[in-house]
Amino acid sequence: MSKREKIDFSDVQGICRFAHGRLTNAEFLLLKIKDVEVAKQWLSQAPVSTAESKSPVPETAMHIAFTATGLIKLGLSEQILSGFSEPFVSGMTAKNRSRRLGDVGNNSPSTWLWGGDDVASPDVLLMLYAAPEKLDGWQSEVMGMKFNQAFDLQHCLRTNDEVRTEPFGFADGISQPEIDWGQQQATDIHSRYTYSNLLALGEILLGYRNEYGEYTDRPLLESDLDALAKVLPRAEENPRLRDLGRNGSYLVFRQLEQDVDGFWRHLKGASDGDSNKMEALAEAMVGRRRDGSPLMSETPYSIPGVDKDKGINQFDFNADPGGLVCPVGAHVRRSNPRTGDYPPGNASFIKRLLSLFGFGKKSRSQDLIASTRYHRILRRGRQYGPVQNSSDYQRGLHFICLSANIARQFEFVQNAWIANAKFGGLQDETDPLLGNRQPLNNGSPTDRFSRPQKSGPAQCMRGIPQFVTVQGGAYFFLPGIRALKYIAETPFGTDGG
Ligand code: HEM
Repeated sequence: MSKREKIDFSDVQGICRFAHGRLTNAEFLLLKIKDVEVAKQWLSQAPVSTAESKSPVPETAMHIAFTATGLIKLGLSEQILSGFSEPFVSGMTAKNRSRRLGDVGNNSPSTWLWGGDDVASPDVLLMLYAAPEKLDGWQSEVMGMKFNQAFDLQHCLRTNDEVRTEPFGFADGISQPEIDWGQQQATDIHSRYTYSNLLALGEILLGYRNEYGEYTDRPLLESDLDALAKVLPRAEENPRLRDLGRNGSYLVFRQLEQDVDGFWRHLKGASDGDSNKMEALAEAMVGRRRDGSPLMSETPYSIPGVDKDKGINQFDFNADPGGLVCPVGAHVRRSNPRTGDYPPGNASFIKRLLSLFGFGKKSRSQDLIASTRYHRILRRGRQYGPVQNSSDYQRGLHFICLSANIARQFEFVQNAWIANAKFGGLQDETDPLLGNRQPLNNGSPTDRFSRPQKSGPAQCMRGIPQFVTVQGGAYFFLPGIRALKYIAETPFGTDGG
């Protein structure tokens, strides 16, 4: 096994380590490259924020990511590009992918404002963050330096400064995997028996061991053939090669519009106007209360004296297999079913081994939870639209997440958990917040949400309308700082290796 090198935070973009919570103002610029040479000059000088800890915390931050078409325009060869993962190369709207992601009906890419079928996909994503009142100044500073000569601004996706509560009114940004920056935890599946929120570095950053103890594919270059590749870090598993992926990540961006009025109107109707029932229904759909406290904890945080930190993330669904406390279909339970990699209780070594190799499973739900640690994502979204409810303006979430493997992480969560009408043994329902409500191919509905009751049949809400609509999206590569230098300096029009 090769030696694990210490992480060089100066080579990692800061967004991989920090959510920039204090930089409450942000905007995301979708750019088309206008002049490749000028764009390269601009990129080589761009003040990209790194993951180094700084004191005081800077008042601005900037990050850069590229689509596959952007990298080609900047001169990366087809051969290098083929080293990236297939979903990144073929894009979010590639054949069959839309169906798997639930991007059909009103979510179809043919209706998107950007990134869809009828609109050119962006080449570059520029993410700007700033402390209150500082964003305009930061944008002017960044956009100086021949910016307009280099790029056409396709869209400026603004956000509002509410970073804690999403538009439906629930606390957001709470549960995140804790990244194992120090690579302390074993990534060998045979040497770890317990579920942990600590996630292998290689699940988020390319070039490190992932939860399988392996390295995710990414472009590895021969520096004998490509002199510029010497700016890149060496590949950990093969130091002869230079690693274009190391310290980089894939960034998934989806503009998700939320029908806030429609959401609360429907819930009011379904609760016969009873505000307590309505609140309980909304909480059941999310799986947390508005204040962020999980339904799996008995007490809301809004009660004075309740320790907020305790239990905010330290819970699982072991004690609630049937979903009496938190419905199996609730958004947080679908998007991270938690629990262990192994069946609950003090299972023997043999039982664990059997479970590891897929034998001895008792139910579909155990099968589902067995794999949670391979499907974590690091969420970095921001919301847009007016903070107060207003039907005049569009509101929603610029959903952003980072992962080293788009297919196994984001796409799995979206497809196998969120959009799966049979998740955890359920029938005819998809994610109560995100579902597109399109019937399945066999005609079965997906517009239901069930809440099991202590006695009697489950309460089942039918005919739920669509509350969240996809308005745009793309897959990006967020390079490490040295990889960005390589991209900016690769001579345009040559094979690059
Ligand atoms: C408009 C769309 C969405 C809304 C309103 C929404 C809302 C929420 C809320 C309120 C929470 C609980 C607070 C927290 O743990 O941060 C949450 C958690 C989460 N969401 Fe979403 N979400 C949306 C889209 C998505 C999408 C598209 C995905 C992934 C494909 C996703 C994945 C997750 C995950 C992984 C968690 C954490 C679950 C856990 O570990 O407990 N969400 N979301």
